[in-house]
Amino acid sequence: MNYKDYTDQVSVFFDRKTELNALNEYLSFLKDNKPKKILLTGYRRTGKTYLIWKHFKELDKNKYTPIYIDCLTKSSWEEIFDDIYKKTIETYLLFKKDDKQILKQFLSNTIKDVYSFLKQVEISIGKENLGYLKIKLNNTKDIKTSEFINKTINALEEFTTKKKIKLVIALDEFQVIQKMPDLELMIAKLRSRLQVVKNIEFIFSGSKPSFFKEHMLYKSKPFFQQITVFEVEPFSKDIIEEIFIKYKLNKEKINKIYNFTKGIPDYVMKVLDYYDKLKNIDKAINSVLLNEKKSIEYILEILTDFQKSILKEIAKGKKYSEIKKEVNAEISSTIKYLINDGYIKRESVGKYSLIDPIMDRYLLDT
Ligand SMILES: Nc1ncnc2c1ncn2[C@@H]1O[C@H](COP(=O)(O)OP(=O)(O)OP(=O)(O)O)[C@@H](O)[C@H]1O
Ligand SMILES: [Mg+2]
Repeated sequence: MNYKDYTDQVSVFFDRKTELNALNEYLSFLKDNKPKKILLTGYRRTGKTYLIWKHFKELDKNKYTPIYIDCLTKSSWEEIFDDIYKKTIETYLLFKKDDKQILKQFLSNTIKDVYSFLKQVEISIGKENLGYLKIKLNNTKDIKTSEFINKTINALEEFTTKKKIKLVIALDEFQVIQKMPDLELMIAKLRSRLQVVKNIEFIFSGSKPSFFKEHMLYKSKPFFQQITVFEVEPFSKDIIEEIFIKYKLNKEKINKIYNFTKGIPDYVMKVLDYYDKLKNIDKAINSVLLNEKKSIEYILEILTDFQKSILKEIAKGKKYSEIKKEVNAEISSTIKYLINDGYIKRESVGKYSLIDPIMDRYLLDT
């Protein structure tokens, strides 16, 4: 996805003033060449991606070049960093249309260097418009991953120094790294490279808060106290009121919306859309419910029957000991899995709740 594709999608935007201000303030660290590393985490659909896009839309593109990478489609670290390199050139050209000749020369040199460890590399650079850049990775078997990351970052530093620009790179859906090989080692390597990075700010973002805690943030983990963490939360009740008061809804109806959406921005915006069309809040809520059914079923599909039955008990409000008695089996590892994968959270001792209010309703109805 390119700059225009995603920034065009940001229109109505509520709240998040604190986050946007902080993200802007952090640019001064980048300016002074002591870039911050930032992590946005939060459960599904709380607005992490939207926040990044909004921040990028508002960036002063004369000073900062925004690079957005959706890691969901990537299956290796190489693919991620390969994309960063290409998008940097592409985005640079979008905002600065000058000196293509110099750029071309620079590229031919650095590409050879960055990709030199590959046995076979095919490089083609567009003649007229350097906006496209094709590099085929032919031999990915014995790539030294961390060496590739180092070289890519070196090349980006050289490029940004030469062009006097600063990069803000967002790696969204970064939790996909959990499936990549040498996870612990690579996180450690990345940390040590980023400790001395020039001209580049990294914003990591992803939807599995407990994964990031476990592998990056805990004491003894590489990014402990090395990264600024923002937990992107659902909208508060006050914000929901602010949004819906414009639609002349009374307190009772606003409460209904809050109870249904629990403030999750995606659901709130969908209710708003339907309300605009139907002018009836119950009908709007029902429409969202119907529409989300498929995606809830899709998410639940990957769970085992046992895991689903535990979720259902939690939706009913049952406590740990009650569930254990009910299913007559050991449930601690299942509970841990459901927490780690973002289905439930712990409310208090032995008490859990569903993260997604619509999933909660779905489980109660079926
Ligand atoms: N601040 C906001 N103002 C208005 N609408 C918002 C805001 N944040 C999110 N939304 C709405 O919620 C939808 C989902 O948000 P987004 O895709 O950013 O969530 P996410 O946290 O990235 O989810 P996931 O973890 O599934 O990737 C957006 O498409 C948008 O309609
Ligand atoms: Mg997202």
